[in-house]
Amino acid sequence: MEVFLVELSWGRRYVMVRPDHFRVDYQINPFMDLSQQPDPALTREQWDGLVAAMRAAGAGVEVIEQRGDAPDMVYAMNLGFVVERPEGPLVSSSAGHAVMSHMRYAERRMETSTAAAWFAGRGFSVSYVGREGIGAHLEAGDAFAWGDALVVGYGPRTDELGLKALATELSVRVRGLRITHPGMYHLDLAFCPLDDRRAIVCPSAFDEESAAALLALVPEPLVITEEEALTTFAANSIVVGSTVLMPATADGSNARIVARLEEWGFTVAQLDLSQFHLGGGSIRCLTNPIDVRLGRDLPLLPSGEVVLPRQ
Ligand code: ARG
Repeated sequence: MEVFLVELSWGRRYVMVRPDHFRVDYQINPFMDLSQQPDPALTREQWDGLVAAMRAAGAGVEVIEQRGDAPDMVYAMNLGFVVERPEGPLVSSSAGHAVMSHMRYAERRMETSTAAAWFAGRGFSVSYVGREGIGAHLEAGDAFAWGDALVVGYGPRTDELGLKALATELSVRVRGLRITHPGMYHLDLAFCPLDDRRAIVCPSAFDEESAAALLALVPEPLVITEEEALTTFAANSIVVGSTVLMPATADGSNARIVARLEEWGFTVAQLDLSQFHLGGGSIRCLTNPIDVRLGRDLPLLPSGEVVLPRQ
């Protein structure tokens, strides 16, 4: 069959946090169970394997040190939404801009001050959308550049005010999607952009209107079931050019998804990240892309705009 894919223009540069202090210390999602602790040596081995596979696929990886008091900081995707070489009114530095997350749960809020200092030290301008539990909540695992907008999941973590904050901070259109499934508490557990017209989508994460709105935004969706999303973490993959880095499953239950991707012309590398699944995250959660570009991947709109699905 003819293979044709137009690669995503972003997804080749990432920030990650080395898991020196990864534990399950509290329970803020249905995957976390205090009696199931990660093995430190295996954790490090799996993380090193992921970094090596990303570099082999052609991605650049920069590393932020993990704070000892922040066991979930390894899920770097949630530190903030980052754009490179921005244009627009509020963003001026040459390296880029990071809209730091304002986490829903206090247990994770300290992570962003460390990450903000790291970004500032590398010439990024930084901003915050809320403060110490007050104001908008934003967790960047809910946000993806897609089509004409930043598609942002809201409900369990990011809230409606967070959508507004992102739209105005970056001067972009935000398309909000209401997440209702407690197990898919971030958009990146239910949605994964693959190329310019394809994405993995799990409609059961959303209310009816939002599921329909997301499917309408993706010309060729790879639709996965609730069970596939929750047991395989397949939507928590990342894409570097035409390589999909996907969490491996013990029982091969992602075979249907892998086969579809290969039919489309992707190379799929499956990696064991089992230790990180104990905290409720996988490959996407561990990686934060820093090469999304305003004006290229996200059309600029002077004062931003939030579009919600019709109720
Ligand atoms: N334990 C983390 C939390 O609940 C997991 C984060 C997963 N990250 C993600 N981008 N989905 O916040």
